[in-house]
Amino acid sequence: MRVLIIGSGGREHALAWKLAQSPHAEAIFAAPGSDGMARVAVCLPDVAVLDVAAQIAAVRQQRIDLVVIGPEDPLAHGVSDKLRAAGIAVFGPSAAAARLESSKGFARAFMARHGIPQPRFEVCGDAESAQRAIRARGGKCVVKADGLAAGKGVAVCAREAEAFAALSEMMDARRFGAAGARVVVEDVLAGEEASYLVVTDGERIVPLAPAQDFKRALDGDRGENTGGMGAYAPAPLVSEAIEKRVLEEIVHPTLRGMRADGMPFSGVLYVGLMIDASGAPSVVEFNCRFGDPETQVLVAQMDGDLLPMLDGAARGELDASLPARGEGAAMCVVLASGGYPREFEKGKAIRGLSAAEQIPGVVVFHAGTKKADGEFVTNGGRVLGVTARGANFAEARERAYAAADRIAYEGRQFRRDIGARALAR
Ligand code: GLY
Repeated sequence: MRVLIIGSGGREHALAWKLAQSPHAEAIFAAPGSDGMARVAVCLPDVAVLDVAAQIAAVRQQRIDLVVIGPEDPLAHGVSDKLRAAGIAVFGPSAAAARLESSKGFARAFMARHGIPQPRFEVCGDAESAQRAIRARGGKCVVKADGLAAGKGVAVCAREAEAFAALSEMMDARRFGAAGARVVVEDVLAGEEASYLVVTDGERIVPLAPAQDFKRALDGDRGENTGGMGAYAPAPLVSEAIEKRVLEEIVHPTLRGMRADGMPFSGVLYVGLMIDASGAPSVVEFNCRFGDPETQVLVAQMDGDLLPMLDGAARGELDASLPARGEGAAMCVVLASGGYPREFEKGKAIRGLSAAEQIPGVVVFHAGTKKADGEFVTNGGRVLGVTARGANFAEARERAYAAADRIAYEGRQFRRDIGARALAR
């Protein structure tokens, strides 16, 4: 099969790396792709993620059998609908179904309609009602921009002043543009978070290994929310009993609800979970695509073939018995630019990439890099996803950090405590 991946980040690099290993893969293309992805995919730098006409032309010219959409933005903009209307097999939900991620208010109302466990919430279209919702919670609340904000539009607040400041950044200063025109104010959930992803054709599912990601910029879960600073899988937090509850109380009701509401969801349903002390799961958020950097660890830890899974889901004939989990564990440490998630500089020379990959089980996925004069330089907030697989979690972690330490560039910033709690379990 000939596969075209839409996107250019660490997640898309990881997908390309895994799909390229499939015995069914004849060629992997990426639009636009990146210099870092060029090792595993033919990149089409002139084909942008929202440029459907160029994508359709590339599909015809390169005789593509399957398009896999990586990021949320093209899904929210209906790229999958337009490609499907052109007769192309696409992995990724319709724009209508992608509202589970692209509108936090839509997702909360959907969950309320279908009895899916979630925190108490209020959807607020103006600052006054949002302030009332914040005050009603004594300032202890989560304030979320309704629209897409690259994982950064969520503020978990302990005090009124903090929540008002977050609200003002979203609604007045429009830090996230139109995404902040509406906000959702929610109760703060207690417990521990996990990422639970299932590949689905709308009805059948293949659950991937439960994972945990680290959204805050600094060690000890301090600092601002980011797109994700690291991840590991499988997450021991999600026991078999908890997984059964997640499937029965969240995943299946969500897929049933989406079908009943006339917008069946196919692609990857990413459930951001909170598991409380009693083991009860509830939904922090839904995403409508693979997680980043969860994908890096899920594909690194997967022994089975990802291609028939994505192809089956795209064609509405997913084989639910496909193996999605492998032996051992994997961990990813994200190396970011100094200052991320706020302002940062680009163009810093990166050294040590080959040395890092000499460590067994290590693969370095490129998120924000480009080549300048034949050498890789930094070109984004999240720069690299240093990913390692090991026979067990301790080995994966040791390898990932040993590899991260071999990579150097000015301003390099990463968390030293990824997976520390799992190690202690
Ligand atoms: N790792 C969080 C996300 O992909 O949204």
